[in-house]
Amino acid sequence: MKSNTVAELLKKDAKSQDIEIKGWVRTFRANRFIALNDGSTLQNIQCVVDFEKTDEAILKRITTGAAVHIKGQLIESQGKGQNVEIAVLSINILGDSDPETYPIQPKKHSFEFLRENAHLRTRTNTFSAVMRLRSSLSFAIHKYFNENGFYYMHTPIITGSDAEGAGEMFRVSNLDAKNPPLNEDGSVNFKEDFFGKETNLTVSGQLEAETFAMSLGKVYTFGPTFRAENSNTSRHLAEFWMIEPEVAFMDLAGNMDLAEDFMKSVLKYVLDNNREDLEFLEQRLLDEEKTKPQAERSEMSLIEKINFVVDNNFKRVSYTEAIDILKNSKPNKKKQFNYIIEQWGADLQSEHERFLVEKHFKCPVILFDYPANIKAFYMRLNEDGKTVRAMDILFPGIGEMVGGSQREERLDVLKAKMKALDIDEEELWWYLDLRKYGTAVHSGFGLGFERLVMFATGMGNIRDVIPYPRTPQNAEF
Ligand code: 4AD
Ligand code: MG
Repeated sequence: MKSNTVAELLKKDAKSQDIEIKGWVRTFRANRFIALNDGSTLQNIQCVVDFEKTDEAILKRITTGAAVHIKGQLIESQGKGQNVEIAVLSINILGDSDPETYPIQPKKHSFEFLRENAHLRTRTNTFSAVMRLRSSLSFAIHKYFNENGFYYMHTPIITGSDAEGAGEMFRVSNLDAKNPPLNEDGSVNFKEDFFGKETNLTVSGQLEAETFAMSLGKVYTFGPTFRAENSNTSRHLAEFWMIEPEVAFMDLAGNMDLAEDFMKSVLKYVLDNNREDLEFLEQRLLDEEKTKPQAERSEMSLIEKINFVVDNNFKRVSYTEAIDILKNSKPNKKKQFNYIIEQWGADLQSEHERFLVEKHFKCPVILFDYPANIKAFYMRLNEDGKTVRAMDILFPGIGEMVGGSQREERLDVLKAKMKALDIDEEELWWYLDLRKYGTAVHSGFGLGFERLVMFATGMGNIRDVIPYPRTPQNAEF
């Protein structure tokens, strides 16, 4: 007989029928009731053991964490809390679990403790719910692009270019670290390295995605990206996943429309398909918020927040307007910001972004037309000569979720910009070619996948929405 999943069994009618199931014991109570979980749903199925007919030695081995194979009958539940349960006919212990040392005891654990046991934390309700949502969001993303005529493109992980020009890259090399070949001036001779030049893990697939947009029209990448920024915050990872659509003949307004429609669509998907996990995470958040002072508690529950984003327009505000709002804001005047906004041109810190979305507008905000000198080289220069067609999408509780722009399609303007920033034309010869042969207006954006998962799950630390977080001083598992 094929074994069933808990999710399948809970949907079945309770008429007596023979079934088989495999899973892990969450708890075993009164030598009789097993709460069994197999990851297919948040819920456990209750398996009732007849202890008089079961070997004493077997009963002792039914411990929290053990893997078991149960054969029995699915029947209407005798007790409260579930419709069906399993009357166990036979139980086979597939893998014992030592109750003395098993880290995931049936009690509340701190997220810090669970991070240290990340290989087992998906055996808890919170982390299994988060990871099912993560999976579902990934699917929704591919579904959205597929249904809207985009091609999925795999951009390289190893690259010679620094797309963002921020110099925060991890080097890829197989040179002998202790004894590298040297140039005459004492610098490392990367010509002898594996690729014959200096290479890194990519910070973004955008530049390569642009080449496909300029031939296939509408493309997107969804892959891992790497940044060696030494920021130990709850919103930064050294390895994170990014979704980057890139579209030919689309301007910045179209880019904003696409980003907004896309985000609403994938969030709607989880509202429709992951209700049980969302409701669980919503309750978790409510419990957590009860421990906070009233003023810090959120006005909306998790599902209300997601619905709010799905149902309301994002507010579109220019950088210049945002600076005016910030300059005149209470925390700026009272010098409560760490960085006081004094004049146009200032880079926005996350405290400013959060003020705008959480206190001022109280909804997602698309900021656009930033000063050219605080943004990357590839963004299209506006007619004013000082701003670029950039956009950032800021979310309540998260801050920056999306960064994107219309790209500079004019060869001469792009070259001048690269020269000013000391970016080697020879390294990006292929990128410049796009502007020589059939150049056109085009745009795209990058959405940090983990930040989206944080928003959809209400988790407060980015380390808790990726299976194995990579952060400064930490690459365990
Ligand atoms: O704003 P960023 O740096 O934009 C780019 O990389 C562009 N090339 C994207 C494009 O236009 N195709 O990064 C995009 C998003 C950010 O808004 C943020 O959500 C996320 O990626 N992000 C990070 N997420 C987690 N950890 C980090 N260290 C991140 N850095 C950026
Ligand atoms: Mg950005």
